[in-house]
Amino acid sequence: MATMTLYPDDERLSATERAVFDLYAVSAVVLFVLMMLIGLLMRTAQGNWMSIPPDLFYQLLSMHGTGMVGTMGMITTAVMWFFLRKYVKLHLWAFVANFVLFLFGALCIIGAIFVGNYGALWTFLYPLPVALAKTWSNGAAAWFLLGYLLIGVGMLLFYLDAALGLIGRFGNLGRALGLQWLLSGDIDPDHPKTVVASTMVIIANVLGILAGAVVLVLSLVSAANPEITFNALVMKNLTYWFGHMYINATIYMAVIALYELLPRYTGRPYPITRPFLWSWAASCVFVIVVFPHHLLMDYAQPRWVSIIGQVVSHGAGFPVFLVTTWGVLTNIHRSGMRWTMPSRLMVLAMFGWAAGIVPAMLDGTIAINRVMHNTQWVPGHFHFYLLLGVLPMTLALLYHVIGSREQTTLDSSADRVGFPLYLLGGLIFTFAFLDAGRMSVARRMATHLPEWRGTDQVGTIGALLLVLAMLYFAMRIAIGLLRVKPDAGPRHAAR
Ligand code: HEM
Repeated sequence: MATMTLYPDDERLSATERAVFDLYAVSAVVLFVLMMLIGLLMRTAQGNWMSIPPDLFYQLLSMHGTGMVGTMGMITTAVMWFFLRKYVKLHLWAFVANFVLFLFGALCIIGAIFVGNYGALWTFLYPLPVALAKTWSNGAAAWFLLGYLLIGVGMLLFYLDAALGLIGRFGNLGRALGLQWLLSGDIDPDHPKTVVASTMVIIANVLGILAGAVVLVLSLVSAANPEITFNALVMKNLTYWFGHMYINATIYMAVIALYELLPRYTGRPYPITRPFLWSWAASCVFVIVVFPHHLLMDYAQPRWVSIIGQVVSHGAGFPVFLVTTWGVLTNIHRSGMRWTMPSRLMVLAMFGWAAGIVPAMLDGTIAINRVMHNTQWVPGHFHFYLLLGVLPMTLALLYHVIGSREQTTLDSSADRVGFPLYLLGGLIFTFAFLDAGRMSVARRMATHLPEWRGTDQVGTIGALLLVLAMLYFAMRIAIGLLRVKPDAGPRHAAR
């Protein structure tokens, strides 16, 4: 069972570990602010409050999409590392290698976009990166693809190290996932939820990253020699397998923070149960095969693949989401939880995940997808659960770590202003996208029709509030982490 001690001894970081963790955290908050500023520019341009030439807009959109997804992957890996290292042996070099390869990959991507003018978006959909090589060179496309490969290799290294650690302690990944208790037997109450979630992420995301590696290498071959072509539909399936899995994995890595921290703030144990194990096992299978729900409007796709996408769409994230919502709500109910920044952020994260999943599931339904496909409903739903769900989960851990260093629980008056600002901005921003989707406003458009500008301008105001709040969080976290103080010793649950 997760510890009830607020700042337990086994979470202390050595000086080197601390330096690496801080590098991850500070880079992430800085990158989030920069990418949000780019997002604000794009939304302002869509609302016609400023003008951005279309080719630059697509460069910015490529940077924003890639930067946000990559940064989320990087920081949620740090969340998983922070807790998993308590239960299995992890090698620091693998965690460091992941960060270094992320940095090199990011440099390749930034160079490809701002020096090479690449603008075929984060989904690098074949044959777009090469076919549009009149606007940018094949070389720029190749640097972009290479950047992805480096980031993917870094993550694979980290996962392989974690998988070896899990197998070393539990014998195999099935036992780490808790499959031996699905039908019968007494569940070991000390089997960590972190281990279950990490195992699921490793199995599913390694497959996704490998699918991505295949499509990246084939695209690189095509960039080197455009005469060599591949089946565009197969390439699209592999790309969405990778992209969908990668961004989904960030939720499943980030939710570990909730499992570990929530009981410490409510002061109430959060036991592992059979439904919990069932839900993670089911999601592990479903999440691997759900990606065809992105291709429901690809009529060349074999019918059975679309049917899988449709059916599994309602089953993939739902079990874990349901069991976590139930677990979190019962853990909080009448617990007398103290409202500090980490606890506030965790409750917000649960709300953002819960509410964001509704428009996502609607969009994964063929009858609705026919209307909503490629409208701003799509950025509406994913910004909802990324901005108001996953990001607050990671911020909760970062605030908690600052608390451990300052030997206190955090709740300054500035925090109490920053938090509602973020929530309000987030709601205005995401509902403006969803409302635009309801009106069938097309997504990914540099120039918007005058009829669309109402929601664009409301969205811009929401984005501005978000950026201000995130700027504050980033400064608070960076300063809090970089202040040189040893980690706190063990303390008992704060109530
Ligand atoms: C202040 C915060 C943010 C602002 C202002 C913002 C703004 C935008 C805008 C204007 C678009 C283009 C929408 C369209 O298709 O018409 C976009 C797309 C996107 N955003 Fe954000 N965003 C923000 C935060 C985030 C976060 C936190 C993430 C993920 C962690 C994210 C990930 C993405 C992705 C993946 C795309 C799709 C890119 C594509 O279509 O290729 N954004 N964002």
